[in-house]
Amino acid sequence: KMKAFVSNLMSKMTLDEKIGQLNLPGAGDITTGQAGNSNIAKKIEAGLVGGLFNIKSVAKIKDVQRVAIEKSRLKIPLIFGMDVIHGYETAFPIPLGLSCSWDMAEIEKSARVAATEASADGICWTFSPMVDIARDPRWGRIAEGNGEDPYLGSQIAKAMVKGYQGDLSGKTDIMACVKHYALYGAAEAGRDYNTTDMSPVRMFNEYLPPYQAAVDAGAGSVMASFNDVNDVPATANKWLMTDILRHRWGFNGFVVTDYTGINELTAHGLGDLKTVSALALKAGIDMDMVGEGFLTTLKKSLAEGKVTQAEIDQACRLILEAKYKLGLFNDPYKYCDEKRAATEIFTDANRATARQIAADCFVLLKNQGNVLPLKKGGTIAVIGPLGDTKENMPGTWSVAANFSKSISLLQGLKDVAGDGTKIIYSQGSNLDADSLFEMRAEVFGKSLHHDSRPATDIINDALAVASQADVIVAALGESAEMSGECSSRSIIGIPGAQEDLLKALLATGKPVVLVLFTGRPLTIKWENDAVPAILNVWFGGSEAGHAIADVLFGAVNPSGKLTTTWPQNVGQVPLYYNHMNTGRPLEGKWFQKFRSNYLDVSNDPVYPFGYGLSYTHFTYSDLSLSSANPKGDQTLTATVTVTNDGPVEGKEVVQLYIRDVVGSITRPVKELKGFQKIDLKAGESRKVSFAITPKDLKFYNTDLKYDWEPGDFVIMIGGNSRDVQSAKVNWVK
Ligand code: IFM
Repeated sequence: KMKAFVSNLMSKMTLDEKIGQLNLPGAGDITTGQAGNSNIAKKIEAGLVGGLFNIKSVAKIKDVQRVAIEKSRLKIPLIFGMDVIHGYETAFPIPLGLSCSWDMAEIEKSARVAATEASADGICWTFSPMVDIARDPRWGRIAEGNGEDPYLGSQIAKAMVKGYQGDLSGKTDIMACVKHYALYGAAEAGRDYNTTDMSPVRMFNEYLPPYQAAVDAGAGSVMASFNDVNDVPATANKWLMTDILRHRWGFNGFVVTDYTGINELTAHGLGDLKTVSALALKAGIDMDMVGEGFLTTLKKSLAEGKVTQAEIDQACRLILEAKYKLGLFNDPYKYCDEKRAATEIFTDANRATARQIAADCFVLLKNQGNVLPLKKGGTIAVIGPLGDTKENMPGTWSVAANFSKSISLLQGLKDVAGDGTKIIYSQGSNLDADSLFEMRAEVFGKSLHHDSRPATDIINDALAVASQADVIVAALGESAEMSGECSSRSIIGIPGAQEDLLKALLATGKPVVLVLFTGRPLTIKWENDAVPAILNVWFGGSEAGHAIADVLFGAVNPSGKLTTTWPQNVGQVPLYYNHMNTGRPLEGKWFQKFRSNYLDVSNDPVYPFGYGLSYTHFTYSDLSLSSANPKGDQTLTATVTVTNDGPVEGKEVVQLYIRDVVGSITRPVKELKGFQKIDLKAGESRKVSFAITPKDLKFYNTDLKYDWEPGDFVIMIGGNSRDVQSAKVNWVK
C-alpha cells in the first residue's frame, strides 16, 4: 500500500519537487514564528523543502505545515525533526549518564517520555539515539553516547529506538535517527570532526554493532557522520552507506547528512559543491541538512549524466515513505494538538520519572568511612561554582529543556532535607582560571556566575561558610558546555581554580563529599586519593538537584556503574577494558622492562569499566559452570551467588565477561556478554545465572565472516570488569 501510494505521488512530481524532498534547510526566521513571511515559506510553496528541524511549539510548526499543505502544488507534508537527545522539556541525564543505569527498561522509558513530550509539541522525528562508541574522553561528544562497550551500546540502542518509535503508528511515536554513522567517536586525538582510521575487523567487532542493533530494531533513519572513515568522508562513503548499511544490514529507511555535511566534503578535499553533492547522492545519502547542495546542483548533475534519475527517485521515495510511515499523509497535523501540548509536557509525572531515573545513573566512586549517606539535621555547606546553577543541570544538547525550572543542587538539598537541616552556600571559586574563563565564557560559562574578585577572596568566603558546617558538599567539575559538540579537551581534570578550592576545603579537616559534575571521564587520581566520598552525577537533567539529594541522604541507594574506563592521566588514553593482550602483556607488577607498560604510570585505570559502589556491599561466590566441555550449540549456564552482606537494600549490576583464549585473530582480554541488574535486601542472597550459547562467542574474522571458533574460553562474572570470578571451558564444535 505504501509503495503504491508513493509511486502514484511520485508520478505527479516534477524533478524540482523530487529534489525538494531531499532538502532539509535551516529553519531560519521560522523559529521566530514568522512562517508566512519567511524566505523558507517561498521555497515550501514551490515544493523545494522536505522538512525542517529544531522549531519548537505546535503553533509555529502548524503555521509552517500549513504553508506546505495549503500553498504547495502537491500538498506534501513536511517532516519536523529536533535534537531530542535526552528528553524534551523534561530533561533526563545526558546519555553517558543514562547508560550508567544499565537499566534497559528505564532507558526505554526515558525515550518514551521524550517522544511523548516532543510529539505533543509538533515534533515527529528525533536526531537520536547517538550510539557512537567512544574510548577517548578528550572527545566532548563522549557525553552524548553510551560509553566504550559495543554489547552494552547495542542493548541501549535497541531500547532507545523502541522507546521513541513504538510501532510508529501512534500519536506519541516519533521516528528515530541513529547517529553518527559511522565511527564518529573514534576521531583521532579526541578532536571533534577529526579523521578516523580503523581496520574493518575492528569496526565490525567493536564500533559498528550499536548502529546495526538500532537498524535491526527498526530505526527509521540514519545520520551520516562528519568524519572520514579510512580516507573517505562518511557522507561520501558508498561502502558505509550502501554496501554495509543497505546491502549487508538491509536498512530500508532514509539517510540524512549532518549539518552541512555535504558542503564540508569540499574542505575534506573532494571537490566543489556540485561534485560533492553528486558523490553524496551516489554514496547513498538521501537528505541534505542545511547546505542545499542537492537543491542547487542535482538538476545540473543529472543533465550532465553525473547522477541518474533512479538515484534521485530512490532518495525521494525513501523520504516520502518515512512521511507515510509517520501517518503524515493521513493527517499532516497529527503531531499538532494544542491540547496535548498544554497537558503532556513537563508534567509532574514526567519530572518524577526523570528524578527517579537520574538517581539510578549516579555513580558512587568512593565512600571511605561511610561519609555517605548524609544524616539529616545539623548544617551542610554546599560549596562550589556548580552548587547553585539550575541552568547547568540539563547538560549538553538539551534543545527543548525547561532550563528555568530545572532544580539546582542547592535547591534539591533544601527540598529534600526539610526544616531540621540548615543548608548554607558559597560559590568558592569560578569555574576555571580567570584567563580561561574570559576566553571561553561564551561557550562554557554562560549559565554560571563569574566572581571577578581575586581567587583567594572567593575561597576565603567559602571557608567562612564551611566553618559553620558539619559536612561540606563540594559541587565541582565541568560546566554543561564543557562537554558535547566541539568541546574537546586535552587536559581532562577538574579545572585548576576548583582544585585550589577543593584543597582548601580538605584542609579544614571537615568531612568533604565531592559531587562531581562531568560529561566525560575525568582524570581524578589525586581526588580519589584525597577526598573521602565522591559521587559522580554527570548532568542529571531537570530533576538532577532532587535526585542528587535523594542519593546523598540515602533515600535512594546508588547503583550506577561506569560505562567508560577512567584513566589516571591523559597520556594513557585510549584506555579501555576490552583491549587486546599484545605479545608482551604486563603480568604481575608494574614496571617491567620489555613489557607493554609506561615508565611513569601503571596500566591501571582509576576506575575500571563497570565500576560503581553502593551504600551496601555485595559479595560474589565462586563461579560454577554447567559443563567444562560444552559441545556445538549446547547452552552453557554460568552461575554465581550474589549476597548483599551490607546494612541496606541495594541494586547490583552483575556482569558477564568472556575471553576467547585462542583465535584466528587476536581477541580482547575480555568482552561484556551479558548483565543483570538485581535488587537484594540486606542479608539476601541470590543465584544469578547466564545462559551462554555459541552466539555469544561469535566475532568477525579477517574475511568479515561472523562465526565462532572452538577452543578455550574464560568465563568471568563480577560487579565490574576488573573484579571477577572466573572459570575455564573448552568448547568444541
Ligand atoms: O543532530 C545534530 C548533530 O548531532 C550535530 N550537528 C547538528 C545536528 C542537528 O542539529
